[in-house]
Amino acid sequence: MSDAFRLDGQVAVMVGTSPNIGAGIALRLAAAGAKVACVDLDPAAASAVAREIRALGGSAAPFACDVTDESQVTRTLDDITAELGPAEHLVNGPVRYLEKGIRTMTLAEWRYQLAVLLDGPFLFTKHVAERLIAAGTEGSVLNLISTAGHQGEPGNIGYATAKAALLNFTRSAAVELAPHGIRVNSLTPTSTDLTEGLERSTRWGMSTVLPEHVDAVRMAADQVPLGRLPTPSDYGNAAVFLASRAARSVTGADLPVDAGSLAKYWRTKPGAQLAHSLGRTPLEHTP
Ligand SMILES: NC(=O)c1ccc[n+]([C@@H]2O[C@H](COP(=O)([O-])OP(=O)(O)OC[C@H]3O[C@@H](n4cnc5c(N)ncnc54)[C@H](O)[C@@H]3O)[C@@H](O)[C@H]2O)c1
Repeated sequence: MSDAFRLDGQVAVMVGTSPNIGAGIALRLAAAGAKVACVDLDPAAASAVAREIRALGGSAAPFACDVTDESQVTRTLDDITAELGPAEHLVNGPVRYLEKGIRTMTLAEWRYQLAVLLDGPFLFTKHVAERLIAAGTEGSVLNLISTAGHQGEPGNIGYATAKAALLNFTRSAAVELAPHGIRVNSLTPTSTDLTEGLERSTRWGMSTVLPEHVDAVRMAADQVPLGRLPTPSDYGNAAVFLASRAARSVTGADLPVDAGSLAKYWRTKPGAQLAHSLGRTPLEHTP
């Protein structure tokens, strides 16, 4: 791999480090040489990822933080600076799932979900950017969206609304921070192959990803053009690219890592059926 794709010695902050997607991204950032600050509301989630990175020979430290509380965000960035060095890269992925529709969601639930999904990325981006600008250092921010942020999703009004807002937050912040050499992009995951997440959940003694989740999501695989769902490592590889010098001219962009979901016209048959009708077998999963 060219050096342009490496992050050796650079400090990357991963916010939202459950055994599923956040852990997958944190592990890939560490494999690319970054020192990873693992930040989560749940101290056990932050510690488990940091421990695994260190066991693999990488550099990482855990930090407990509620992303909706500005004083905790600034204190966490101070702690990261003291322990690992100043943050150069940030990945915003905290989430509270709350599948409610316009008729069933209360105002308090709406405010809470939007606070985690929007206040969190706002506060972390703001304070990381302020510190980078004060130090005259370039850096990057990556916001995790969802295919639900690109299309209307019934029964998930707060989530779909917040993710759509995060897309335009990304573009606006990208233009504002570009003169300072700070790139801001987003990555759109979709329904995820939870096998890696289940394996980590089990090994780390956490109940975040359950076997029934894996089976339920697997049913979605034949709906996507590639006929298999992306894994957390797939998102991690894309996150490394977007943080690295290899992406130095990329800002304000969204990278769908969605097995072709957003590219598919709504009338198109699901991926597996389409492949079958063309006389091909759908692609097998490759790790
Ligand atoms: N799982 C999917 O299939 C999928 C699909 C599309 C997009 N995404 C996006 O990817 C990201 C990760 O998804 P996941 O399924 O791994 O999530 P997850 O629920 O497994 O993990 C989210 C983490 O956010 C943390 N968190 C919640 N509130 C917080 C707060 N106030 N402060 C700090 N941390 C907080 C939780 O403790 C948890 O560890 C999210 O942004 C999600 O919207 C996920």
